Amino acid sequence: RENPLVLGIETSCDETGIGIVRGTTLLANVIASSMDEHARYGGVVPEVAARAHLEELVPAIEAAVAESGIRLEDLDAIAVTSGPGLAGALMVGVGAAKALALALGKPIYAVNHLVGHVGADVLRLGESDTVPLEYPTIALLVSGGHTSLLLVRDLTSDVELLGETIDDAAGEAFDKVARILGMPYPGGPRIDAAAATGDPRAIRFPRGLSRPKDMDEHRYDFSFSGLKTSVARWVEHREDAGEPVPVSDVAASFREAVVDILLTKAVAACADYGVPRLLLGGGVIANARLRQVAIERTDAAGLTLRIPPLSLCTDNGAMIAALGAQLIMNGHEPSTLDFGADSTLPV
Ligand code: KG4
Ligand code: ZN
Repeated sequence: RENPLVLGIETSCDETGIGIVRGTTLLANVIASSMDEHARYGGVVPEVAARAHLEELVPAIEAAVAESGIRLEDLDAIAVTSGPGLAGALMVGVGAAKALALALGKPIYAVNHLVGHVGADVLRLGESDTVPLEYPTIALLVSGGHTSLLLVRDLTSDVELLGETIDDAAGEAFDKVARILGMPYPGGPRIDAAAATGDPRAIRFPRGLSRPKDMDEHRYDFSFSGLKTSVARWVEHREDAGEPVPVSDVAASFREAVVDILLTKAVAACADYGVPRLLLGGGVIANARLRQVAIERTDAAGLTLRIPPLSLCTDNGAMIAALGAQLIMNGHEPSTLDFGADSTLPV
């Protein structure tokens, strides 16, 4: 089936995402976030997220249909994130997707959220944007919920998880360090802004899982909880001594540690597997220093760097629809309607 018309539903975390694509062409990408409701708790509250999805889903579908100009009857299929993510949040999307598929008599594709992030890179946004996702690629996905390194030989049939965080996600570390520095949630953008005027070499914070002995078992894994603790201790020491905390320097030094370890491991994976390209995804890609160092390091290593637009990097339904369309175009069978939501779904 060429250029199938697919509606994608994403509810794995706090974004209710509805996307509509025709093949690799993006027709609509509607995102309703419950971020504001989580702000006062300092992080995403699963039940609050699930309830918000329940309220936002149908309006978001209606908005996406209006934006795309399609009719629901003309869809070729529905695609939905079935995991990984928050169980209750996933269930809302999966339930809605099944109901829609059943009501319209359309096939449904249950897809993996992380693979969906990679799928974002097949979407063409205009005539000028012509290079499709190429294989093989290493994908570095960094958000508030995940930090994963994938080897993608084929989007629909051969995706391998090389490594992931063993504790906090990178975005989560940004949010926690922001709290230490007295900044509100979500702290990532605030740390990024404060770091702009700081010295990244002011304080040498640890790079998690980078010692030689970590290089066997955890070569492509990440750890950010030690870094967070290290920042907390450094700030406490200053405060105990009655000295002012140089917020910009702490932010810049912390940001540098995160960016350094993310890209060191991603570029190492490219070299180890002989893969000439690196794809970035996830909300932390908004980080200015991460983008800059990614350009520098991939240039130096002779790698092609791909960064989809931010609206397709943060959680969204278009990437899920795009992956669904790829599954159809590659002849994959739809899912049977008895699949569940799996919070730890493997790639
Ligand atoms: O992908 P995303 O929008 O949502 C999920 O995590 O599901 O990512 C949000 C995360 C938050 O942790 C936020 O603090 C972080 O991405 N973030 C940033 C920046 N912008 C957002 N982290 C560092 N620098 C930024 N500029
Ligand atoms: Zn995500």
